This record gives sequence, structure tokens and C-alpha cells, in this order.
Amino acid sequence: MKNQVAERMSGLHDEAAFQILAQANELEAQGKSIIHLEIGQPDFNTPGNIIEAAYKAMKEGKTGYTPSQGIVPLREAIAEYAGNYKKVKTDASEIVVTPGAKAVMFFTMLMLTQEGDEVIYPNPGYPIYDSVIKFSGAKPVPMPLLEKNGFRVDIKKLEQDINSRTKVIIINNPCNPTGGMLLKDDIYAIAEMVRDKGIYILSDEIYDRLIFGEKPPSIATVPGMKDWTIILDGFSKTYSMTGWRLGYGIMNRELAKHMSMLMVNSAACAASMTQWAAIEALRGPQDEIVKMVCAFKERRDYLIGALNGIKGIQCLKPGGAFYVFPNISSFGLSSDEFSRRLLEDAGVAAASGTAFGNYGEGFIRFSYANSLENLKIAVDRLDTFCKRI
Ligand SMILES: Cc1ncc(COP(=O)(O)O)c(C=O)c1O
Repeated sequence: MKNQVAERMSGLHDEAAFQILAQANELEAQGKSIIHLEIGQPDFNTPGNIIEAAYKAMKEGKTGYTPSQGIVPLREAIAEYAGNYKKVKTDASEIVVTPGAKAVMFFTMLMLTQEGDEVIYPNPGYPIYDSVIKFSGAKPVPMPLLEKNGFRVDIKKLEQDINSRTKVIIINNPCNPTGGMLLKDDIYAIAEMVRDKGIYILSDEIYDRLIFGEKPPSIATVPGMKDWTIILDGFSKTYSMTGWRLGYGIMNRELAKHMSMLMVNSAACAASMTQWAAIEALRGPQDEIVKMVCAFKERRDYLIGALNGIKGIQCLKPGGAFYVFPNISSFGLSSDEFSRRLLEDAGVAAASGTAFGNYGEGFIRFSYANSLENLKIAVDRLDTFCKRI
């Protein structure tokens, strides 16, 4: 039987890193040794104090539905955190708590865009952007992030791509998959371009605690931009809480009401005990995060040296997140073919650059959310593999 699903379903696509994980797991089940560098998930446990806070909440009976927008004490804690860390002045009424930050992406598109609108999104970029833009009926317009520009936005090209149909521009800082960063000048230039044009910015800041140098400003701090920015953030990466499914959006009060309406009509609310535990994440000790960032920095530094030491590979030094995006074009294989053979022949699972859009051709993404020891094995295997191509 062929199901007659709605046409809009054809806009949605899968996240390739999960497909590669499934393939890698299958090979592992057949007895092959695999080093996993494909998935964007910190290899650290959720800090114990956060787990304790979740237990405590459950034991106290905080197990029911919560307000769709999220519990007030968590929204207050997020507002305080946004003020301290992001320097964004906000309050609980401007925050919507969601089951994972991904939901903020989806809801933003459902809430703001429709057929006839255009959304400019980073390419290579997180694959879900393109998927949810298409689902909303809007047209995705790629914003190429090229190696020759240090994976930063080409401001002139962006200016040319903005027109009267542009409704939203998505920025992601630091960026998945490149680890690249937009600097203060880029952010101010983008703000200048959209000012007074009725264009919203979806600012994906999910990796903004995983920065190895100076933190660039959130675009919401640029004068006049707060009401036009939807900040997307969450607990998955910063607090190693991917499976807890907790994210949030910060937006003007009017938009927060609309996004809460989408929450009422979909998930109802984020899980209660998870929300209570998240208050501890924000207000409790932060030393585990500091340790995690130090470990990521050490791995990045090792990988950059090691990858650039392999003949034919060139890799820019990322400023944040936990990914490197080496250029493998000199080997004459497509990114898909390179990553498929790297997995099958050498036992290293990595995401193809094109999993993040067509501008990712010629690159692969390694997630260094794995131990230094395993990274060294992966580099040895990669070196041998490259010599054999
Ligand atoms: C750029 C980017 N934004 C958002 C997300 C989604 O985060 P969450 O797990 O909280 O839904 C991810 C996850 O990989 C990501 O890489």
C-alpha cells in the first residue's frame, strides 16, 4: 500500500550523521573495530549535581505537566544566565523552554515563514535548517561558508542575496560542521544589513560555551537587534545533556506567545524533572564544563597538528564547537565516497561534508567528542588510508 502523505513531507530530510552511525554500528556488530567521529554529542556524562537535581525533583513529585512556556524558575534562571554570559537583557516572559533546541528551529520556521518567503541559511551548516525551511514552504537560500574565507560569512554575497522576500537569516556561532566563528565585525555587518527591513535573525548559539578564545557578541546585543533576534540555545552540548532533550528560545514577548502556542499544540511542555534539573545546571558549579572545554581544546590542538601532517589534507583551526572540517579534495574522491571508504576500509566513522549542504563538497567532518587515545588511533588509520588511495 502506498501511503498518501501530505506534500509538505517531501521537504523534510534525515540527518546524515545518524545514518552513518547506524552503518558504523552495523559494521561493529559484524566484529569490525570502528572509531566513532561522526556524531555531535559530547563524550562526557551529565554532571552528577544535575542528575541529583532531577532525582530530587522526581522524589518531590515534580512529575506532571508544566506550563507550556516552561516553569517560571527555569525561565528566570535562563534570563539571568543570558544576562551574565550572553550580555542579553531579557526576562522570563521572553523565554520559551522546548524539548531540545532543535524544536526552536522548527517552531521559528513554522511561526515566521511560508510560501513566497526566503530564508538564508549557512551552507555547509546544520542539515536541519534546510529541512525545516522547506517544510515551512519557504525557499532555502544558501549562505556559502567557504574555506578561503575562514568559513566566515561573505558579507558582500549576503548583501546581494537579501531581497524583499527575505524573512529570516540563520547564523550559527560557533558553527557546525566547520567549527568556524563569526567575529564581532561580521555580526555588526549582518545587523547593519537587516536593520529596518523586517528580517529576523535566528541566532543558533548552541555551541557558544565551547569557544577556545574570545567570545564574540550575540547579535541580540547589537543596538536595535534584540526584538528581531530569536536566540536558540540549550543544555545538550554545554552540559552534556543530549538525551535529556531540553532547549530554549529567547525572543520578543509577542513571538514567545506564538512559540508557546506551538508548544501547546505539539509537545505540551518539556519534561518536568528535566526542567528542574536544568536550574541546577545553570546555577550550580560550572567546573565540569570548564574541564570539558579544556579537554576539547587539547583534542582540537592535537588534531589540527596531526591532520595537517597528513599529505593531501588541509585543515583550518576551528575557534569553537567540537568539530574539524578538513579539506580532502586533493584525493580526487567525492566527500561521500571518501567517508564511505574511510569507514569500510579503515574503520573511522566521519560525516561527509555534503551531509551539511553542497558547499561541503571536498570536506569531511570529524567530531572530536572522543578520547585523545581514540583520536590518535583514528589519525593513524586515516594516514594509512590516505597513502593507499
Ligand atoms: C548547530 C546545532 N543546532 C542545534 C542542535 C540541536 O540541539 P538539541 O540536541 O538541543 O536539539 C544541534 C545538534 O547537533 C546543532 O549542531
